[in-house]
Amino acid sequence: MVKSIGKRIIFIAVFISGNGSNLKSLIKNFKNNSKIKISLVLSNNPNAYGLVYAKKNKIKNKIINYKRKKKAESIILNLLKKNKINIICLAGFMKILSKHFIKKFKKPILNIHPSLLPKYKGLNTHSRVILNKEKFSGCTVHLVTPTLDSGKIIGQKKVKIKKNENASKLSKRILKQEHILYSKTIRKFVSNLEKKI
Ligand code: GRF
Repeated sequence: MVKSIGKRIIFIAVFISGNGSNLKSLIKNFKNNSKIKISLVLSNNPNAYGLVYAKKNKIKNKIINYKRKKKAESIILNLLKKNKINIICLAGFMKILSKHFIKKFKKPILNIHPSLLPKYKGLNTHSRVILNKEKFSGCTVHLVTPTLDSGKIIGQKKVKIKKNENASKLSKRILKQEHILYSKTIRKFVSNLEKKI
């Protein structure tokens, strides 16, 4: 896995399903990076607003029909190969990648999750955090494995919850931190890969 990456440009595919604010910040932060290039954006949702950012920045983008998951994943694997993708970054991608897909791709897959994993896996993290009267929440970047939100943690940012803060306000504050954390973690992850070669 590491050898195939070498000291060349690292091509990243970002998978989205919705707003794409993380995609937007990744595009912005890697725009002038000579080592890391966002070269493909995939969405299972044709109406994902994030596609606008890909188009604006002339990044190749594809909509994948997920009605038949097996077929969808096989199309995606071909696209990844054709575009020489080295790393997949999931950014609000609402589909779960199969064990088969992860095994076939062989290269790293990263995800950003809006909680301090291993706490609060899955959906509706902010409302569960508020309901449980937690003092802190945050966001996590982790490697993707077949078990949901459970792979090795490679980046995390803690956020202190304000008194009487609601889930919507907390989610906005955490999202801002996600935008910083994801690029920072990818940069570190890529430079660690290079050191291992
Ligand atoms: C983020 O909170 C991310 O952590 C979660 O889904 C949300 C996506 O937001 N996985 P956006 O589409 O990047 O704005």
